[in-house]
Amino acid sequence: MARQANDLTPERIVRYEEDGPRVVLLDQRRLPVEQVELACRSAAEVAAAIHDMAIRGAPAIGVAAAYGLALAAETGEDVDEAAAVLGAARPTAVNLAWALEQMRDDPTPAHARALHEEEVERCRSMAAHAAELFRRGTRALTHCNAGGLATGGYGSAVGALRAAWELDLLERVWVGETRPLLQGSRLTAWELEAAGIPHAVIADSAAASLMAAGEVDCVVTGADRIAANGDTANKIGTYSLAVIASHHHIPLYVVAPTSTVDLVTPSGADIPIEERAPEEITTRFPARNPAFDVTPGELIAAIVTEHGVHRAPYASSLAALV
Ligand code: MRU
Repeated sequence: MARQANDLTPERIVRYEEDGPRVVLLDQRRLPVEQVELACRSAAEVAAAIHDMAIRGAPAIGVAAAYGLALAAETGEDVDEAAAVLGAARPTAVNLAWALEQMRDDPTPAHARALHEEEVERCRSMAAHAAELFRRGTRALTHCNAGGLATGGYGSAVGALRAAWELDLLERVWVGETRPLLQGSRLTAWELEAAGIPHAVIADSAAASLMAAGEVDCVVTGADRIAANGDTANKIGTYSLAVIASHHHIPLYVVAPTSTVDLVTPSGADIPIEERAPEEITTRFPARNPAFDVTPGELIAAIVTEHGVHRAPYASSLAALV
């Protein structure tokens, strides 16, 4: 089968169409095999698309929820009820609640589009800041997908990799496959391939031995929620990477927009962790499926937002963001 071109504009990832009206998104469950769009005609359908991970990644689900709320307002749904349904779709990424709060006083398509554009702009700014952390020849390891698909365009951690590549600082990317839903091997690898960035997918469990062999210079990830003390929730497996990176004296950088920073949540212990269906892991045996884990701030060498590079102690460097 011929490969379809990967032209990942923000509008291809998620958009609002007046004709319908409807929210249209690229169904990420089908990637990279097929590029299929999913049309949502109510807030409940957008919430289901978020819950079922047709669209996923913290900033992207915030953008989708913003469009979903605009859709509800345009079609005469009860906006408060729509906000409640959208807000309950997934618990960990704070961007969902953040975007709905931003939309509350002006739930229009124009406002949702502006929020989408701003989120992509934030990615470009933070990527430029994060690139400062790279040295020529860097071999970076990333986890999950923090690319354009996850942010509505350009990407946070993958945006940083793109910026570093353009500055000729990046040699290659190790892509953790990211069990159980394979956001790394399906989505990140697809985005890096399109960007022409040398990469190789690794089993999640191969990271430690690559580090021990001296083949990893830094770990770069996105985030779903950053607590006031710098503790960071991200895709399950990030904490393990942080521990083994620390053991090998390799820095772990978190790249995320301020829409992911939750100063109301004091520490990682207060972040709700989504438990997903056991069937994502096995249909035969009992299973436990936490979708995220929390990396303590002390294992994070820097948190990069659109405002710059923030270092420990995060309680003060993040507080300065407000
Ligand atoms: O379950 P997902 O695929 O929504 O999880 C996404 C992640 O954990 C990403 O790393 C995170 O949202 C950062 S995306 C810019």
